[in-house]
Amino acid sequence: MQIDILTLFPEIALAPLGESIIKRAREAGIATVRAHNLRDWAKDKHRRTDDYLCGGGQGMLLMPGPLFDAIEALKGPETKVILMTPQGRVFKQAMARELSREAHLLIVCGHYEGVDQRVIDELIDLELSIGDYVLTNGAIAAAVVTDAIVRLLPGALGDARSPEDESFSDPNLLEAPAYTKPADFRGLKVPEVLMTGHHARIAEWKQRMALERTRANRPDLLG
Ligand code: ADE
Repeated sequence: MQIDILTLFPEIALAPLGESIIKRAREAGIATVRAHNLRDWAKDKHRRTDDYLCGGGQGMLLMPGPLFDAIEALKGPETKVILMTPQGRVFKQAMARELSREAHLLIVCGHYEGVDQRVIDELIDLELSIGDYVLTNGAIAAAVVTDAIVRLLPGALGDARSPEDESFSDPNLLEAPAYTKPADFRGLKVPEVLMTGHHARIAEWKQRMALERTRANRPDLLG
């Protein structure tokens, strides 16, 4: 899979993707991830990419010229073009799974007050938000989305089973609490059932605890 990120801050987008699991997946050729500086498509000598809002209002907007040129240069016939914006659909694990089946993603990062609507109308296939808060720029959100997608690609995680067991694989339940050794740490004990080796009872305990945790932390998931 190929992911291209178009942003004014390529270093911000790439920094979290240059370590650990995603770094190894990239080195293994499981995913090709590149970041491109929108300023390279600016037209004037000051390399401007933003301008004031038509009709007035606070802040600046990314203007259509550089974005049209950059997106047209970077997209191919199979590309899904995504815009990171707090106005988008909220990114969830199911969407990560769906997008992990695409051949090529071009992730466009908003900045300032966002992008000119004509870019969205003409060139964007999907507007995505990573949550109900406002970041300083979409490069952070693009890194989040890229991480969530690349780790799902076959071979990215060492243990091929691990994406199935985790929170949000069952869309309605969080993961159960987890423990490692020692069994007694400062008098704090690992729940006994986990030390029994009794798989059925352990599975039943995990299910119950997952439900309890979901009720406490994310009652919205239970509907
Ligand atoms: N840009 C700024 N805030 C954002 C968010 N919450 N999701 C996606 N892109 C953003």
